[in-house]
Amino acid sequence: MTLLRDESLAAAFDRASRHYDTLVALNPGYHAHLRRSVRRLGLPAGGAGLRLLDLGCGTGASTAALRSVLPAAHITAVDASAGMLRRAAAKPWAHDVTFVHAPVEHLSDAGVRGPFDAVFAAYLLRNIRDPDAVLAAVHDLLRPGGRLAVHEYTLSGRRTDRAVWTLVCRGIVQPLAAVLLADGALVRHLWRSVVEFDTAGRFAGRLRAAGFDRVRALPLPGWQTGITHTFLAQRKESRS
Ligand SMILES: C[S@@+](CC[C@H](N)C(=O)[O-])C[C@H]1O[C@@H](n2cnc3c(N)ncnc32)[C@H](O)[C@@H]1O
Repeated sequence: MTLLRDESLAAAFDRASRHYDTLVALNPGYHAHLRRSVRRLGLPAGGAGLRLLDLGCGTGASTAALRSVLPAAHITAVDASAGMLRRAAAKPWAHDVTFVHAPVEHLSDAGVRGPFDAVFAAYLLRNIRDPDAVLAAVHDLLRPGGRLAVHEYTLSGRRTDRAVWTLVCRGIVQPLAAVLLADGALVRHLWRSVVEFDTAGRFAGRLRAAGFDRVRALPLPGWQTGITHTFLAQRKESRS
C-alpha cells in the first residue's frame, strides 16, 4: 500500500470525518496531550492579542486545545478535508475562530496571511508530501520570535517503541476502525505514515534545517512515550 497524499488523503478524511471524534475519544490522553503541547508553547496572558494558526485542524480537536489554553487568542484553523472542516466549523466556538478550507501548501492563495505569533500543527506533518517546503512557509508566516509547536507521531528509533506502535495499530485501532469506518485505507495509512516518517531526532534536525531556533523535542506521557512528541521551535528574533 502506498501512502495517501493530497486529494486521496483529503477524500479518506472526508469519509472518516463522521466517526473521527469517536475514534479519538477512545484514545486515552488524546485531548489532554494536545492541551499539554499548547501549554508548552509558553504563550502569555491567555493569548490576549495573539494570532494563532492551527494547521490541519481536522474536526477541531487541536483548535479546542488552543481555545482551552489560550481563550483570548484569535485562531485561524485550516484543513484540506471539507468533511473534517465542516464538522469543526459546526461546533459551538466563541468569537475569534476562523476556519479556512485549503491545503497547507496553498495558504497564501486561500488568503491566510502572517504574521502569526504561533503556529500549531497536530498530526499533520507526516502526511505532507514535502514537509520541508511546508516548514519553510510556516517559518515565513511567523513573526520574528514567533513560536511553533508540532505535535506528531515520531518514533524514538528504539525497536520496542516501533513494536508498541504496531501493536496499538493492529490490536486496537484497526479493529475499532473496522467497526466505525467504511474502509481501512486511512488506518493502514496511519500505521505506515508513522513508521516511514522521521524519528524524533531526525524531525528536530529538519526543523533546524528550515531555519528554526531553540528546537526541542519533548516526550508525551503514557503509552505514547517514545511514539509521540511535542516539538517546540522559534523563528529567530532577527536575521543575524
Ligand atoms: C489526524 S488529523 C488531525 C486533526 C487535528 N489536528 C487533531 O489534532 O485532531 C490530520 C488532519 O490534517 C489534514 N491534512 C492532511 N494533509 C493536509 C494538507 N496538505 N493540508 C491541509 N490539511 C491537511 C487532514 O485533512 C486531517 O484533518
